[in-house]
Amino acid sequence: MTPRAKALLLCLMLVPAPALAETARETGQLPSAADTLNHEAPPPAFDPDAGVDLLALYAQADPVAGEAYFTRRCQVCHSLDPNDNGVGPSLFDVVGMPVNGVQGYDYTGALARLGPVWDVAALSRFLARPSEAAPGTSMAFFGTQDRADRLNVIRFLEERAR
Ligand code: HEC
Repeated sequence: MTPRAKALLLCLMLVPAPALAETARETGQLPSAADTLNHEAPPPAFDPDAGVDLLALYAQADPVAGEAYFTRRCQVCHSLDPNDNGVGPSLFDVVGMPVNGVQGYDYTGALARLGPVWDVAALSRFLARPSEAAPGTSMAFFGTQDRADRLNVIRFLEERAR
């Protein structure tokens, strides 16, 4: 760093923040009304599959790979036996089932916005990033950005219930 740059940096550090804010107010450079409006606009709905032909990809999904994925990532919290709830609800026959549909499981209610039923699109969206697709959900799974992983595990869940 040149001595000049150092001096400039020092000057910047010495100007107290309130003084900067003061200047901004005087010159009218504070966040404009347009910025405020932007902040009030609703965030775009979380949709990791926008513009994707999900059902065409689902037709080619691999349930064997899906089972391996389920064993690694889901089984710790979910059983596949009917009415056997663990940390999460039983996932027996979940594909096509009503959201929040397992009797006796104490849901948060956060999943309702993904319903009314768990179709492939709703499941893929949820599994991509549970906390963003259903804010407030208690499902402590980070999610997977890999669409093939999502579709494989959904396909496994569907075939397993037959
Ligand atoms: C750390 C525990 C945990 C892991 C890991 C986990 N889940 Fe969940 N899951 C939950 C909980 C808790 C809920 C209930 C969420 C709520 O009520 O907000 C849930 C809910 C669900 C639901 C909604 C079911 C219904 O009855 O409406 C589906 C579908 C689901 N999980 C699929 C999966 C899949 C597939 C995986 C693996 C990729 C997975 N989960 C991994 C804990 C977990």
